[in-house]
Amino acid sequence: MRAKIIGTGYSLPAFRADNDYLATLVDTSDEWISERTGIRARHLAKEETTLSMSAEAARMALERANFRAEDVELLIVATITGDMDTPSTACQVQKEIGAKHALAFDINAACSGFLYSLHVAEAFIESGTYRNALLIGAETLSKIVDWTDRTTCVLFGDGAGAALVTASENGGLLSQSLGSNGEKWDVLFCEGRPNENPLRAKGQKCGYLKMDGQEVFKFAVRTVPQCIEDALAKAGLKPEEIDLFILHQANKRIIQAVAKRLGMAEEEFPMNMDECGNTSAASLPILLAQLDERGRLHPGDRIVLSGFGAGLTWGACVLEW
Ligand code: UT7
Repeated sequence: MRAKIIGTGYSLPAFRADNDYLATLVDTSDEWISERTGIRARHLAKEETTLSMSAEAARMALERANFRAEDVELLIVATITGDMDTPSTACQVQKEIGAKHALAFDINAACSGFLYSLHVAEAFIESGTYRNALLIGAETLSKIVDWTDRTTCVLFGDGAGAALVTASENGGLLSQSLGSNGEKWDVLFCEGRPNENPLRAKGQKCGYLKMDGQEVFKFAVRTVPQCIEDALAKAGLKPEEIDLFILHQANKRIIQAVAKRLGMAEEEFPMNMDECGNTSAASLPILLAQLDERGRLHPGDRIVLSGFGAGLTWGACVLEW
């Protein structure tokens, strides 16, 4: 049995902040942001939370698959920005949508989180432990971004995407290639809340997201093509046999470099970072759900999903729709 996606959903905050709006907050411009990244706008949470967006995306995925929440057996939320330190966002979503029979937990793998959740779901489904899994990638990055730092705050957005996966004899996940390199954790990180117990020095501050952009860029253009090629080799496929390459939406130039390395046309790499920015773990499932909504995914299509991010973490998978 293979893990197959049978329903997708997404949720974006109502407030759309374009680049001109950001130029009122920090010393930047629409020209710099759009030329260097391809981002023109992003959605930022005013009222929305990681939980509310997760639940909305999950409900849409279940509805599109015509599947009952109470039949969900595994519920995983990939996030680095849960509303609470504990319980997990997954347990909160479980209550919110009524997935009362599911085993629920979160995964922290930054922008690769959705692919990691798919990896875990596939192992459970292949082993026969569970017959289905509801996977959600959700982030409220606007709460960990330093809104005085123009080198990071212009890049990120908020949102959630979801995919319902079930055991299937036809199609589904054909191969995967994932990795982690903790040696490089310090090129992209966000410190947690400080320890204020009576034994510690006072005055420590909560951290914000910090990134060495050029290091992450170099890592991405080197590693993403490698892991896609590895996943393709495992599936016995060549790049030209793939219908769509759905990549983590961090930077248009990274996607263009990956397309070039694989010898593929940019048109086969759909993008939404112009409207959503980089939504970390939510980026892949949001784009997948939007493509599904627009009728861009057809039964039998071969699709590559690939992501990379803090950890460092990365991954690619090949699936048949
Ligand atoms: O999900 C994974 C997360 N992260 C990524 O994928 C990020 C990967 N890296 C990148 O996408 C790019 O490195 C960035 C978009 C972050 C930066 O682009 P860059 O072409 O590497 O620019 P840079 O850091 O070399 O900066 C060039 C200049 C600098 O000014 P000087 O030193 O040349 O005078 C920056 O201070 O651009 C300046 N700059 C800005 N200017 C206007 C940096 N940020 C901004 C800004 N607006 N927002």
